[in-house]
Amino acid sequence: MTTRVDRGDAAAERARFLGEFLRDPARTAAPAPSSRALAEIVCAPVSAPGDPVVGELGPGTGAFSALVQERLGGRGYHLAVELNPRLAGLLCRRHPAIDVVVAGAAELPALLAERGLGGADVVLSGLPWAAYPVTGPRLTDVIAGSLRPDGAFTQFTYVWSRWAPPARRQHRWLREAFEEVVASRTIWPNLPPALVYLARRPTAVGHAEEPAGARLP
Ligand SMILES: C[S@@+](CC[C@H](N)C(=O)[O-])C[C@H]1O[C@@H](n2cnc3c(N)ncnc32)[C@H](O)[C@@H]1O
Repeated sequence: MTTRVDRGDAAAERARFLGEFLRDPARTAAPAPSSRALAEIVCAPVSAPGDPVVGELGPGTGAFSALVQERLGGRGYHLAVELNPRLAGLLCRRHPAIDVVVAGAAELPALLAERGLGGADVVLSGLPWAAYPVTGPRLTDVIAGSLRPDGAFTQFTYVWSRWAPPARRQHRWLREAFEEVVASRTIWPNLPPALVYLARRPTAVGHAEEPAGARLP
Protein backbone atom coordinates (compact mmCIF):
# COMPACT_ATOMS: atom_id res chain seq x y z
CA MET A 1 0.00 0.00 0.00
CA THR A 2 1.30 3.46 -0.81
CA THR A 3 1.43 5.53 2.36
CA ARG A 4 1.60 9.28 2.74
CA VAL A 5 5.28 8.93 3.72
CA ASP A 6 6.02 6.89 0.56
CA ARG A 7 4.40 9.58 -1.57
CA GLY A 8 6.42 12.24 0.27
CA ASP A 9 9.64 10.30 -0.38
CA ALA A 10 8.80 9.92 -4.05
CA ALA A 11 8.05 13.63 -4.38
CA ALA A 12 11.33 14.50 -2.63
CA GLU A 13 13.19 12.14 -4.96
CA ARG A 14 11.62 13.69 -8.04
CA ALA A 15 12.47 17.18 -6.76
CA ARG A 16 16.05 16.12 -6.06
CA PHE A 17 16.40 14.57 -9.52
CA LEU A 18 14.92 17.63 -11.21
CA GLY A 19 17.39 19.84 -9.28
CA GLU A 20 20.30 17.76 -10.61
CA PHE A 21 18.84 17.90 -14.13
CA LEU A 22 18.64 21.70 -13.98
CA ARG A 23 22.21 21.85 -12.67
CA ASP A 24 23.62 19.55 -15.38
CA PRO A 25 21.05 18.62 -18.05
CA ALA A 26 23.55 16.96 -20.41
CA ARG A 27 24.86 14.48 -17.83
CA THR A 28 21.64 13.85 -15.96
CA ALA A 29 19.77 13.54 -19.26
CA ALA A 30 16.27 13.13 -17.81
CA PRO A 31 14.13 15.45 -15.68
CA ALA A 32 12.71 12.58 -13.60
CA PRO A 33 13.83 9.19 -12.33
CA SER A 34 12.84 6.12 -14.34
CA SER A 35 9.55 4.39 -13.57
CA ARG A 36 9.08 1.03 -11.91
CA ALA A 37 7.77 -0.29 -15.26
CA LEU A 38 11.08 0.56 -16.95
CA ALA A 39 13.09 -0.76 -13.99
CA GLU A 40 11.31 -4.14 -14.29
CA ILE A 41 12.59 -4.57 -17.86
CA VAL A 42 16.08 -3.16 -17.24
CA CYS A 43 16.56 -5.43 -14.20
CA ALA A 44 15.07 -8.56 -15.81
CA PRO A 45 18.48 -10.33 -16.10
CA VAL A 46 18.99 -9.99 -12.34
CA SER A 47 16.95 -13.06 -11.57
CA ALA A 48 19.49 -15.81 -11.78
CA PRO A 49 20.01 -17.93 -8.68
CA GLY A 50 23.34 -17.91 -6.86
CA ASP A 51 25.46 -14.87 -6.12
CA PRO A 52 25.49 -12.70 -9.22
CA VAL A 53 27.85 -9.77 -9.58
CA VAL A 54 25.80 -6.79 -10.79
CA GLY A 55 27.40 -3.62 -12.11
CA GLU A 56 25.12 -0.60 -12.39
CA LEU A 57 26.15 2.49 -14.35
CA GLY A 58 24.55 5.88 -13.68
CA PRO A 59 22.22 4.80 -10.85
CA GLY A 60 21.04 8.37 -10.14
CA THR A 61 18.58 8.31 -7.23
CA GLY A 62 18.31 4.53 -7.46
CA ALA A 63 15.27 3.76 -9.63
CA PHE A 64 16.93 0.54 -10.81
CA SER A 65 19.10 0.01 -7.73
CA ALA A 66 16.11 -0.55 -5.42
CA LEU A 67 14.80 -3.34 -7.64
CA VAL A 68 18.26 -4.92 -7.96
CA GLN A 69 18.49 -4.97 -4.17
CA GLU A 70 15.03 -6.55 -3.92
CA ARG A 71 15.98 -9.23 -6.42
CA LEU A 72 19.34 -9.97 -4.84
CA GLY A 73 17.80 -10.21 -1.38
CA GLY A 74 21.21 -10.08 0.27
CA ARG A 75 22.94 -12.34 -2.30
CA GLY A 76 25.70 -11.47 -4.74
CA TYR A 77 27.49 -8.14 -5.14
CA HIS A 78 26.02 -4.84 -6.34
CA LEU A 79 28.53 -2.25 -7.54
CA ALA A 80 27.08 1.11 -8.61
CA VAL A 81 29.17 3.67 -10.52
CA GLU A 82 27.83 7.23 -10.46
CA LEU A 83 29.60 10.36 -11.66
CA ASN A 84 27.52 12.81 -9.62
CA PRO A 85 28.80 12.81 -6.01
CA ARG A 86 25.55 14.22 -4.59
CA LEU A 87 23.49 11.44 -6.15
CA ALA A 88 26.09 8.85 -5.13
CA GLY A 89 25.89 10.09 -1.51
CA LEU A 90 22.11 9.85 -1.54
CA LEU A 91 22.27 6.30 -2.92
CA CYS A 92 24.81 5.26 -0.26
CA ARG A 93 22.55 6.51 2.54
CA ARG A 94 19.49 4.89 1.04
CA HIS A 95 21.07 1.51 0.23
CA PRO A 96 24.01 0.76 2.54
CA ALA A 97 24.36 -2.72 0.99
CA ILE A 98 25.36 -1.26 -2.38
CA ASP A 99 29.02 -0.55 -3.07
CA VAL A 100 28.60 2.96 -4.53
CA VAL A 101 31.61 4.54 -6.23
CA VAL A 102 31.92 8.09 -7.53
CA ALA A 103 33.54 7.47 -10.91
CA GLY A 104 32.92 7.42 -14.63
CA ALA A 105 31.36 4.33 -16.19
CA ALA A 106 34.59 3.49 -18.05
CA GLU A 107 36.17 2.66 -14.67
CA LEU A 108 33.93 -0.41 -14.29
CA PRO A 109 36.53 -3.06 -15.28
CA ALA A 110 39.15 -1.55 -12.94
CA LEU A 111 36.64 -1.32 -10.09
CA LEU A 112 35.62 -4.96 -10.55
CA ALA A 113 39.27 -6.03 -10.67
CA GLU A 114 40.15 -4.00 -7.54
CA ARG A 115 37.49 -5.96 -5.68
CA GLY A 116 38.71 -9.28 -7.03
CA LEU A 117 35.32 -9.87 -8.65
CA GLY A 118 36.50 -10.93 -12.11
CA GLY A 119 33.71 -10.36 -14.61
CA ALA A 120 30.17 -9.15 -13.93
CA ASP A 121 27.15 -11.41 -14.52
CA VAL A 122 24.94 -8.44 -15.34
CA VAL A 123 25.62 -4.81 -16.19
CA LEU A 124 22.68 -2.39 -16.11
CA SER A 125 23.01 1.04 -17.61
CA GLY A 126 21.06 4.08 -16.53
CA LEU A 127 23.41 6.22 -18.62
CA PRO A 128 22.17 8.43 -21.40
CA TRP A 129 23.64 7.52 -24.79
CA ALA A 130 25.20 11.00 -24.62
CA ALA A 131 27.47 9.72 -21.84
CA TYR A 132 29.07 7.28 -24.31
CA PRO A 133 32.17 9.01 -25.69
CA VAL A 134 32.57 9.20 -29.47
CA THR A 135 36.37 9.10 -29.32
CA GLY A 136 38.72 6.72 -27.55
CA PRO A 137 37.73 3.22 -26.52
CA ARG A 138 34.04 2.54 -27.05
CA LEU A 139 32.15 2.28 -23.78
CA THR A 140 30.07 -0.54 -25.26
CA ASP A 141 33.33 -2.50 -25.73
CA VAL A 142 34.46 -1.65 -22.20
CA ILE A 143 31.14 -2.93 -20.83
CA ALA A 144 31.23 -6.09 -22.97
CA GLY A 145 34.78 -6.70 -21.77
CA SER A 146 33.71 -6.40 -18.13
CA LEU A 147 31.14 -9.22 -18.45
CA ARG A 148 31.52 -12.96 -18.05
CA PRO A 149 30.97 -14.83 -21.36
CA ASP A 150 27.37 -15.67 -20.38
CA GLY A 151 26.74 -12.21 -18.94
CA ALA A 152 23.98 -9.80 -19.94
CA PHE A 153 23.83 -6.04 -20.43
CA THR A 154 20.76 -3.79 -20.51
CA GLN A 155 20.60 -0.22 -21.79
CA PHE A 156 17.50 1.92 -22.09
CA THR A 157 16.81 4.68 -24.58
CA TYR A 158 13.98 7.14 -24.96
CA VAL A 159 11.73 6.30 -27.89
CA TRP A 160 11.75 9.83 -29.28
CA SER A 161 15.53 9.79 -29.62
CA ARG A 162 15.84 6.24 -30.93
CA TRP A 163 16.43 7.24 -34.56
CA ALA A 164 18.64 10.25 -33.85
CA PRO A 165 22.22 9.82 -35.17
CA PRO A 166 23.91 9.43 -31.72
CA ALA A 167 21.46 6.69 -30.71
CA ARG A 168 21.85 4.91 -34.06
CA ARG A 169 25.61 5.00 -33.74
CA GLN A 170 25.53 3.66 -30.19
CA HIS A 171 23.08 0.94 -31.24
CA ARG A 172 25.42 -0.12 -34.01
CA TRP A 173 28.37 -0.20 -31.62
CA LEU A 174 26.26 -2.23 -29.19
CA ARG A 175 25.53 -4.78 -31.93
CA GLU A 176 29.25 -4.95 -32.71
CA ALA A 177 30.11 -5.66 -29.07
CA PHE A 178 27.50 -8.41 -28.52
CA GLU A 179 26.30 -11.38 -30.54
CA GLU A 180 22.68 -10.81 -29.61
CA VAL A 181 20.86 -7.52 -29.05
CA VAL A 182 17.09 -7.56 -28.57
CA ALA A 183 14.87 -4.49 -28.18
CA SER A 184 11.94 -4.58 -25.75
CA ARG A 185 8.44 -3.30 -26.39
CA THR A 186 7.89 0.40 -25.69
CA ILE A 187 7.35 1.16 -22.03
CA TRP A 188 4.65 3.80 -22.31
CA PRO A 189 4.13 4.42 -18.57
CA ASN A 190 7.68 5.80 -18.37
CA LEU A 191 8.07 9.52 -18.85
CA PRO A 192 9.34 9.92 -21.50
CA PRO A 193 8.38 6.51 -23.01
CA ALA A 194 11.42 4.27 -23.34
CA LEU A 195 12.60 0.92 -24.61
CA VAL A 196 15.35 -1.39 -23.41
CA TYR A 197 18.10 -3.17 -25.32
CA LEU A 198 19.07 -6.54 -23.84
CA ALA A 199 22.51 -7.61 -25.05
CA ARG A 200 24.03 -11.04 -24.52
CA ARG A 201 27.19 -12.95 -25.45
CA PRO A 202 29.94 -10.31 -25.56
CA THR A 203 32.13 -10.69 -28.65
CA ALA A 204 35.81 -9.88 -29.07
CA VAL A 205 36.12 -6.21 -28.26
CA GLY A 206 38.50 -3.32 -28.97
CA HIS A 207 37.12 -1.60 -32.05
CA ALA A 208 39.03 1.15 -33.81
CA GLU A 209 38.67 4.66 -32.51
CA GLU A 210 36.75 7.15 -34.57
CA PRO A 211 38.25 10.60 -34.94
CA ALA A 212 36.61 13.48 -33.06
CA GLY A 213 33.85 15.01 -35.13
CA ALA A 214 33.44 11.90 -37.28
CA ARG A 215 30.22 11.93 -39.27
CA LEU A 216 27.44 9.98 -37.66
CA PRO A 217 25.58 7.37 -39.67
C1 LIG B 1 19.14 9.47 -17.10
S1 LIG B 1 19.88 9.49 -15.45
C2 LIG B 1 19.33 7.86 -14.93
C3 LIG B 1 19.28 7.70 -13.44
C4 LIG B 1 18.63 6.38 -12.99
N1 LIG B 1 19.34 5.22 -13.47
C5 LIG B 1 17.20 6.33 -13.46
O1 LIG B 1 16.92 5.59 -14.43
O2 LIG B 1 16.35 7.03 -12.89
C6 LIG B 1 21.61 9.28 -15.85
C7 LIG B 1 22.54 9.11 -14.66
O3 LIG B 1 23.83 8.78 -15.15
C8 LIG B 1 24.83 9.55 -14.45
N2 LIG B 1 25.98 9.65 -15.37
C9 LIG B 1 26.10 10.41 -16.49
N3 LIG B 1 27.28 10.17 -17.09
C10 LIG B 1 27.91 9.22 -16.36
C11 LIG B 1 29.16 8.52 -16.48
N4 LIG B 1 29.98 8.76 -17.50
N5 LIG B 1 29.49 7.62 -15.55
C12 LIG B 1 28.66 7.35 -14.50
N6 LIG B 1 27.46 7.97 -14.32
C13 LIG B 1 27.09 8.89 -15.23
C14 LIG B 1 24.11 10.88 -14.17
O4 LIG B 1 24.73 11.57 -13.10
C15 LIG B 1 22.70 10.37 -13.82
O5 LIG B 1 22.62 10.02 -12.45
